[in-house]
Amino acid sequence: MINTANEIKITLTSRSVNESFSRAAIAAFVSQADPTVEELNDIKTAVSEAVTNCIVHAYPNTHGKIYITASISLAGKVLIRIRDQGLGIEDVKKAREPLYTTLGGDRAGLGFSVMESFSDKLYVRSKLGKGTTVTIEKQIWGKLKAEKAPKAQES
Ligand SMILES: Nc1ncnc2c1ncn2[C@@H]1O[C@H](COP(=O)(O)OP(=O)(O)O)[C@@H](O)[C@H]1O
Ligand SMILES: [Mg+2]
Repeated sequence: MINTANEIKITLTSRSVNESFSRAAIAAFVSQADPTVEELNDIKTAVSEAVTNCIVHAYPNTHGKIYITASISLAGKVLIRIRDQGLGIEDVKKAREPLYTTLGGDRAGLGFSVMESFSDKLYVRSKLGKGTTVTIEKQIWGKLKAEKAPKAQES
């Protein structure tokens, strides 16, 4: 466990090579909270989906900025905010429905569903023409839970 709260900010250009960078950078940051492999994978997957959405939906056929802020509280609560200043979403409720996509082809329309299931809470705020902010909230329990769980009887 860390003993002080911590925060980082990263600004990226919406190029697809930066998707793997953002994933790795957030994973490296979150690692200090001593997450389990599963918790870390959940966060990496959710971040990838959000960043991919900025790249393909917020700034189609152009490149804009993606602003990421990540913080870890003293209690191990991770907050990751991914913001763009792109096209925005007309109907957020509809966009969050499984299988909803405005781009056919290889997009499955499952990005928000994945983000939701891999985080504790997912907030999406958007304004047409102004941009979108996605906030992922996840409590890191790390090995804490496993340690506190009653141990099997030792012989
Ligand atoms: N950052 C964003 N900017 C603009 N539109 C977005 C953004 N993120 C998501 N959307 C819209 O929400 C829809 C659903 O997103 P998602 O669930 O990730 O599915 P997919 O990316 O496969 O289309 C997208 O098709 C797009 O219309
Ligand atoms: Mg998506």
